Amino acid sequence: MTASRVSMVVNGARRELLVEPHERLVDILRGRLGLLGVKEGCGEGECGTCTVLLDGKAVSSCLMLAAQADGCEILTIEGLSAEGTLHPLQEAFIREAAIQCGYCTPGMILAAKALLDRELDPSEGAVRRAISGNICRCTGYDKPVKAILAAARQMREDAR
Ligand code: FES
Ligand code: FES
Repeated sequence: MTASRVSMVVNGARRELLVEPHERLVDILRGRLGLLGVKEGCGEGECGTCTVLLDGKAVSSCLMLAAQADGCEILTIEGLSAEGTLHPLQEAFIREAAIQCGYCTPGMILAAKALLDRELDPSEGAVRRAISGNICRCTGYDKPVKAILAAARQMREDAR
């Protein structure tokens, strides 16, 4: 198998890369593009730390081959504050002290963003479901859930 050319938009910038058949999306995001906000925990689709948005959908980048992302748009946590302003979710996580070690935080925020992009007034249950694939060993989940609901409120107010 030979390397293939992949074209994707990552955090708003077009990237053209030659990727090996075995390279995963997490490998190129972290190793080649230096996007270290994409964390690798389990490497088997269980922990959610490697979550990125692929065409707006939360995916585990450890489970995808880089070649599968050809033609897609990818958002990592770095792209959320690309303009130098924190996203309401990031602000809410800080305000609500929803971050401890922070290892799960990028993936959890991106999973929450995918939810809020679809539904700006989610129930607490919907929030818990949206982040159910993101394992956090520190916070007990209550503070992240509170932060996501607070961000949703803020975003509804900003949209008025
Ligand atoms: S590192 Fe991808 S789900 Fe755990
Ligand atoms: S804050 Fe440490 S794993 Fe979630």
